[in-house]
Amino acid sequence: MGFNRGVLSVGAILLLLMCPQSSALEWSKVSGRQVTLFYPGQISWENLLITSSHAGAAGVRNKTSCNTCHGGDESALGSAIASTPDKAVYKQSGPPASLQTTLKIAVEDNLIHFAIDVPPGIRGQISFMLDNEHYVHSATSGCWASCHDDNTGMASSDGLELTKYLSASRTNNTRTGGGRSYKSLNELDALLHAGQYLEVLGADLSVDPVAPIHGYVLEARRMQRLQEIPAGVAAVRNEGWIVISRPLSVEATGYKAMTGGQDFSLGMALHYPQQRGRVHLVSLPVRFHLAESGEVRFITD
Ligand code: HEC
Repeated sequence: MGFNRGVLSVGAILLLLMCPQSSALEWSKVSGRQVTLFYPGQISWENLLITSSHAGAAGVRNKTSCNTCHGGDESALGSAIASTPDKAVYKQSGPPASLQTTLKIAVEDNLIHFAIDVPPGIRGQISFMLDNEHYVHSATSGCWASCHDDNTGMASSDGLELTKYLSASRTNNTRTGGGRSYKSLNELDALLHAGQYLEVLGADLSVDPVAPIHGYVLEARRMQRLQEIPAGVAAVRNEGWIVISRPLSVEATGYKAMTGGQDFSLGMALHYPQQRGRVHLVSLPVRFHLAESGEVRFITD
């Protein structure tokens, strides 16, 4: 009996050493940034670029960050959008139109960890769209660079069934989006190799234990199946925090090279259970600098 218990505890220690939960990081000592997620309705990239639908259109075209004009107003934006009549779809589904979270980012042993505090028991999916600021609009417009008027559920979708994409993947971008005007496979491949895509990194909180989510967005949103996600990419619950981790360097398609001395940006999204596509809460862009030393510092616009 005693012997067995001894064997078990050695096993347990080994398991603890191997699991991401065993991270020695003390999150209480890592400084965070408040991120407010809000309901964006059907405000597409195209809407934001056109003055008749967005008073800040000139700013977006000149690459002024959304934060410059709206930072701190996210909750108000979320409730204003959710209360307009055509957005009843969101009101019926129940959850609040905004949510305050804190984001902490830290590097340890060649892994980068993103910790988000979310209300206990929360389910659904949390995801980031991450860029090393290779795509021209990531730093200033975050998620909106991939949110088009003809995406499924958006105003001009017209049965097209398009997931998120980047305008750079299309030959003909109009006021209603780029439709099916895809660039050639060779051109898309060249864009991918030039880092012209957004990485999707997240956590599925609807399963127990929580599971990592990974993919990328270029001409469409391309998600990896769980069994295809490389080792080291992980998501865990850790005392009220959801911690999403990945190695700084991953030799697989759709993973941004996270080398020190660079600026990065991300947009965060939360889909509550049953919510799909555009019915979600999102953040304005969040930027951070990853120093050669591995230290992470948030950048304020
Ligand atoms: C140069 C300033 C400026 C920039 C940059 C800017 N906006 Fe705006 N935006 C405005 C103004 C002004 C309004 C109209 C007043 C209001 O509703 O706050 C507005 C309105 C909005 C609305 C409200 C629509 C509604 O139905 O209530 C949303 C959502 C929005 N902007 C999102 C964004 C996003 C996302 C970005 C970044 C991609 C952005 N804005 C960048 C100035 C700006």
